[in-house]
Amino acid sequence: MSALSIFAAPSPSAAGPAAADGLLSASGPADGLLSASDPADGLLSASDPADGLLSASGPAGALHAALAVPAARPSGEREIPAVLGADLEVPVKGGRLVRYANLDYAASAPCLEPVSAAVAAALPAYSSVHRGAGYASQLTTARYERARHTVRAFVGARPDDAVVFTRNTTDATNLLARALPEGTTAVVFDTEHHASLLPWADAVRLAPPAFPGEAVRAVDEALTGIDGPALLVVTAASNVTGELWPIAALAHIAHRHGARILVDAAQLVPHRRVNLTALDLDYVVFSGHKLYAPFGAGALVGRADWLAAAQPYLRGGGAVKAVGDAGDTAGTEWYDDPEARHEAGTPNVLGAIALAAACDALTATGWTALVREEERLVARLRAGLDGVEGVHQLSLWDRDHPRVGIVSFVVDGHTAREVAEALSSEYGIGVRDGKFCAHPFVRHLLGAKDGGCDDVTASAVRASIGIGTTDEHIDRLITALKELTSR
Ligand SMILES: Cc1ncc(COP(=O)(O)O)c(C=O)c1O
Repeated sequence: MSALSIFAAPSPSAAGPAAADGLLSASGPADGLLSASDPADGLLSASDPADGLLSASGPAGALHAALAVPAARPSGEREIPAVLGADLEVPVKGGRLVRYANLDYAASAPCLEPVSAAVAAALPAYSSVHRGAGYASQLTTARYERARHTVRAFVGARPDDAVVFTRNTTDATNLLARALPEGTTAVVFDTEHHASLLPWADAVRLAPPAFPGEAVRAVDEALTGIDGPALLVVTAASNVTGELWPIAALAHIAHRHGARILVDAAQLVPHRRVNLTALDLDYVVFSGHKLYAPFGAGALVGRADWLAAAQPYLRGGGAVKAVGDAGDTAGTEWYDDPEARHEAGTPNVLGAIALAAACDALTATGWTALVREEERLVARLRAGLDGVEGVHQLSLWDRDHPRVGIVSFVVDGHTAREVAEALSSEYGIGVRDGKFCAHPFVRHLLGAKDGGCDDVTASAVRASIGIGTTDEHIDRLITALKELTSR
């Protein structure tokens, strides 16, 4: 199955589970997904709300000039941008310094150079947003709102979708959990990251499906048994195996039952283009720090109605229109606009600017180049791991099922902690070990009965890659594993 089949929106004739299964078996290059005419392109070139604010001559004209950014997408593809820290040196045993091989992108990715430049450019005029009359305040407000517009375009959101800036994915799923209409049941697979598994007051948990079509069937069955509002919560790309989930087919099934779908795109957006409109998703959530923008912002993007009707996530200034004299009950009016309503207090402006700069940088580079390079590196990594005796890669589904740049594995005769520590202290390689905040899923993959974070016997090693990963990083990991396993 190709990435294309996963991300393609169901055709009008794709009705029901069988048709959804059909979606899962089409073939085609992952790149195909990225070369079609892109609704996001239209959005990127549409007039910008921030521009409207600033197009007059005079001081506003100066603001406009200060906001100018390079064209979102040049005709040819640009070079893949660099990350900060590519030349970081770390100590290894014996006191030597070696270049750090960062293979832990799925936890937090390094900062892209254009992201750091955007933050540096915004800092001199940094000021309050939505409340100051001063020039710096207006400029910073315009930058913040432009960031919202950029994020909206990046995920191909509908014009009336809300884009709420959050701290991260966990914050975003929790925000939506608090905004669900009363009586909503969440449907969630045991394969989820804890950020998507735990926030729901009322949840139906589904066992890990044996193959993608089984996921669609299990959701169909679960939703059949639910009366009242329902929300399907599913991760687009697993943080444990990197495998891509059939989110278009799952959205289709959810909607047939009148349910909504929230897609945890934390591990997808750094690796693949997402188009919420084309996929017919209701909500997506993701984190800046996994998207090369480690400045503490994330986003919840999606349908505005539930958010507009919910109690404000935080109560305080910015979310409130008018405050009466008797607390919340008399004369206190909250904004209906979901973005204002759920972003009380001073927002993380630099985080939002950084997040938008990352979106711009990836879009400008072009997904074809990004995906092609990642797939080349993943193939090298997986082939290398195959060649190390005693190393077993983890997959929920077929070995060839498409995945992003994440590979978890176990090593015969060594705990994951031993392997990760040796890779760091002897070879200068950073990987993650443990259960990756997905305890039920990792237990399932390892056939383990129980065990939390500290249980080193039921844990795996995870190597994850992205922009900045080199052949040498991968080859060093493979050489190191060969040496460790032959001791
Ligand atoms: C798939 C997935 N969802 C959610 C999260 C939580 O992200 P954050 O820690 O930024 O809230 C992660 C982090 O590893 C993840 O991989």
